[in-house]
Order: sequence, then C-alpha cells, then structure tokens
Amino acid sequence: MAKYSISPSGEKFPLPTKEDYRKEFEKLKEAAKRQRAKGREIVVVMGLGFVGAVMAAVVADAADKKGNPTKFVIGMQRPSTRSYWKTPLLNRGIPPVSSEDPEVVPIIKRCVLEKKTLMATYTYDALKLADVVVVDVQCDYQKESIGNVRTGQADMEALEESLEIIAGNINPEALVLIETTVAPGTTEQIAYPIIKKMFRKRGIQSDPLLAHSYERVMPGRNYVASIRDFWRVCSGVNEEATRRVVKFLKEILNTEKFPLTVLDRPIESETAKIVENSFRATTLAFLDEWSLFAERNGVDIIKVIQAIKVRPTHSNMIFPGPGIGGYCLPKDGGLGLWAYRHIHGWEDDIFKITPLAIDINDTRSLHVAQLVRDALRNMGRAMASAEILVLGASYREDVGDTRYSGSELIVRRLTEMGAELRVHDPYVLHWWEFEKQDEYPASSQGMKRFFRGQEKLKDLRVEQNLKKALAGIDALIFAVRHRHYLNLEPDEVVKMAGNPIAVIDCFGILNDDQIRRYFELGCEVKGLGRGHVKRIKDQVRGNKRAEA
Ligand SMILES: NC(=O)c1ccc[n+]([C@@H]2O[C@H](COP(=O)([O-])OP(=O)(O)OC[C@H]3O[C@@H](n4cnc5c(N)ncnc54)[C@H](O)[C@@H]3O)[C@@H](O)[C@H]2O)c1
Repeated sequence: MAKYSISPSGEKFPLPTKEDYRKEFEKLKEAAKRQRAKGREIVVVMGLGFVGAVMAAVVADAADKKGNPTKFVIGMQRPSTRSYWKTPLLNRGIPPVSSEDPEVVPIIKRCVLEKKTLMATYTYDALKLADVVVVDVQCDYQKESIGNVRTGQADMEALEESLEIIAGNINPEALVLIETTVAPGTTEQIAYPIIKKMFRKRGIQSDPLLAHSYERVMPGRNYVASIRDFWRVCSGVNEEATRRVVKFLKEILNTEKFPLTVLDRPIESETAKIVENSFRATTLAFLDEWSLFAERNGVDIIKVIQAIKVRPTHSNMIFPGPGIGGYCLPKDGGLGLWAYRHIHGWEDDIFKITPLAIDINDTRSLHVAQLVRDALRNMGRAMASAEILVLGASYREDVGDTRYSGSELIVRRLTEMGAELRVHDPYVLHWWEFEKQDEYPASSQGMKRFFRGQEKLKDLRVEQNLKKALAGIDALIFAVRHRHYLNLEPDEVVKMAGNPIAVIDCFGILNDDQIRRYFELGCEVKGLGRGHVKRIKDQVRGNKRAEA
C-alpha cells in the first residue's frame, strides 16, 4: 500500500518507491555534472528543518564578486511520512518552513526556479556527489520529568545515523561541517570515530575532514540575515579541515562585515554554543522570581524592565513570558551536563546554575494556570468545563514554531484541571504536539506523558478565525506577542466573546489603558509579573462606587 506524507496545508505526497530512487540519482548526477562544468562546488545540506532549509538557500544564493553563483546545493531530507513533503515542496520553490521574514520566500524561489542552484532530494546517494556536506539534523535532549533536567539524556540517534550514512557515501576529500548543536566533545569523540571506522571499512586511509560551526539562526523577522549576516564561530579537527571550513564559510556568509572566530578545537566551538544558550536561559530564568515578586507586591515588572534597559549595560534584559520554549534553550544546557559525565567521564556534579535555569524555565508556564483559576474564581466561575482560549501556540512572536512552547504546557495543565481549551495562532495551521501527540515529537519525548487526562487534546485544532475563536469563552490567555494581538481592543474582544471574561496577560501585551478598559467592561485581569493590575482594578471599582 502506498504511504503518504502530508504537508501542513493538507497536500498528500506519496513516498518514493525503489524505482524512484534510481531515477532520482541519475537526475542528480546529471545536474551535478552540469553545475561542475560551470565551476560550482556541490554542497549537500542534510536535514531540511528550520535550520537546514534556509541555510541551504543561503549557500545556493552565494555568488562571486561578479555575481556568478559559486555553489550548487542539494538539500537532503529523509523521506519519513512526517517530513518527506518538504522535498517536493522545496523543488517547487516553496519554503518548508513559515516565517515573518519577507526574504525567505523570494530567496528559495530565486535559487530553485531562477538561478537553479538549489534542489531537494530524498536519496542519500546525493552525498556521493558532495564537495561539502553540511549537517543540520537534530540532536535532542530527552527529559524524564518536567523541572529536573538532570534526569534526562542526550538523544544522538539521528545524528549518529546521519554520520554513518555520510561516512558510507562521501568522497574522502569532502568537508563534513556539523552545524547541529551537540554535546561538547561530539565532533572529535563521537563523529570522528564513526567516520574513521566507516572509512576503514571502505579501504580509505585518509583522515576525515571534519569541522564544527554552530548556527545562531533566529527563525523570525530576520531569519535569512541571522544566518548570512551574522558572526560565526568554527573549528576543524585538523589543519586542513580548519582551512576548508574557513574557506567555505567565507564564500557563503557576509564575513567581511561579520568576521569569523576560529577556535583551536571543535570542542571549543561546541562549548561556545552551549555556554551562549545557557547564559541566555539563565538571564531569563533569573527574572522568574522577580516576576512573582512583582505580581504579589503591586509592581509591574514590564515597566521595571523597561526602566532598567535604559542603562546600556543592561539593555538585553528580556521578560521571559510564559516559559522559555523553542528547540534550543530548553535543551542545550542539558547537552552540556550530559557531555561532562558521559563523553568526558567525570563523576562529580559541578553544575548548579545551568540546570536550575532550565528547570525554572520549564515550569514557569504552569503558574499561568493558577492565574486563570484565580481570575475565574473572582468572577464566580469554576475552572471545570470553562471555555478558555489561548492566543498563540508558538514559542515566540511572529513565527510558526511550536516546539516546547509555553502555550503547550498551559493547554496541558488547564486540561488536566478540567477546562475546555481552544487555540488561535495565525502562523500555525496544525499543532502537531496535540494532533499527533502519541508520535510527535517521538512518543518518548512528548510532554503528554507528564499530565493526566490528555487524550481529548488530539482533537484540538488551531482556529484561524479570531471572531469564531472568541465566541462564548470564559477566559482569554495572551500567550504570545504575535503582532496580531498587540492592538486588540477590549471592547471588540468582549463583544466577540459575548460576555465579560477573565483576561490573562502572559507577555506584557496589555497597556494600562487596555487593562483599565477590561475592568470597566466587567472583566477580570491578571498577568505574569503584572502586580499593578490590582491597583487599576481598585481605581475602576472605586470610580464605579463613586458613580453609584
Ligand atoms: N531552530 C533554531 O532556531 C536553531 C537555532 C540554532 C541552532 N539550532 C540547531 O540546529 C540543529 C537543527 O535544528 P532544526 O531546528 O533545523 O531541527 P529540525 O528538527 O527542524 O530539522 C532537522 C531535520 O533533519 C532531518 N533529518 C534527521 N535525520 C536525517 C537524516 N538521516 N537524513 C536527512 N535528514 C534527516 C529531520 O527529518 C528534520 O527535517 C539542532 O541541533 C538545533 O539545536 C536550531
């Protein structure tokens, strides 16, 4: 029976057959031959996810001083039912990821359809044609509980499998550049031996040309620029690998304006990535206790942060919202802890701040459920069977990436407490963490297993029509700072809801006028770190009493 892969918009793509593979490789060989004749290097980008899809386009768009393309890129995506659709879609010039960055659509269209320097494939045979292989597959960190990252472990399966496949197929002269965020030590102590062993099996004596350079991509409004026009750190396992990775990155990135940092060994580049993200996770976690302090003592943490940020040394302080999601910050510190013990063999426990920060960030969103409970109680309504709408499923504003979003835990906790959930997000068509909650992410990694009564959430659908989503609700949670939510007028919202509601602001979205208006309309308002709402409420209630 034919198997299908279904794209987010619902288009069905049959998975390739045995015969397709043979024809596909012939097609790739022909294309590579034509491109080589034009003096272009062949680059295979393995893994067309959030990083690989746009990285592939940036490489394919690279040109020499005269504007002639210097690379031909083959994006390689394994043909799983979950991901195969990305390949045919990209070959039509359509990005497999959605984003607010206006550059994403044209760069992919340009490279695929006009310059013809980018194509996608499902066959590992593409690796045989590569001068450079860029590895952009995932390396997960599997948690065993919420709020205790120490009990988790690195999941290297996809990466190790990819490295074996690469080693079994590449020309030994090809540069293998690992961009995946890995446990420090992976390039030299895991990847190098895997490739070396496979080379030996193939009768190849030479040393693998292996390097690491981590991605700092931010899939938001500056998605493309965050790859191309941004600083990079890199390192190779030997002199030749270092020379090759520096040359490659200089040819594809804007290194004149954003110079490269070359470190002595890959473990230093790998450590830089983990420390960089752990630093960010820590500064965000730090604000959790001050957010609670503010909430309980009449302080608006949003105004406090704005006041502090005026000082240039503190300008990068950011409010953590309902938890820290995304693929990177919740896991990267865990990869560091795991490496210390399992790659480098240390027995003692030197880490205090890094795991604590992740644990705080991972549990922060659960507090939102308490605010909803209290707001509903103040209105004389029960949580059980209350209709609650969450605005925003993504982990950050103006992107369609739901991985480990605070919103997911909000939905799960409130469901556990008996509420009926709805969700609206203009960037997310399918919230796979619910729709396919038994298999996505892999069943052993999903958040479902940490909550009870979650079965019905597989029927949760993301509503695109705000009016419909709001009709008849009891509570509204502003969970993500999508631009669509920043100027919603209280009068409109309450009119669409059909009655006064509980409003929970998780991200400093409401200004004081809007908060006041919600109270005037008979609503209840609460917010993470927004202790001053009580003052506004007292003013409004006081005014009402005076009027009466
Ligand atoms: N998303 C971000 O914002 C971001 C930022 C910086 C760094 N990173 C890091 O970059 C890496 C990739 O992240 P991502 O967000 O693109 O992940 P992703 O899960 O979106 O993409 C990984 C892709 O690799 C594919 N894949 C897995 N095994 C494969 C194989 N054997 N052959 C071909 N394809 C295979 C998967 O199907 C998937 O499409 C991770 O290490 C991540 O930590 C991500």
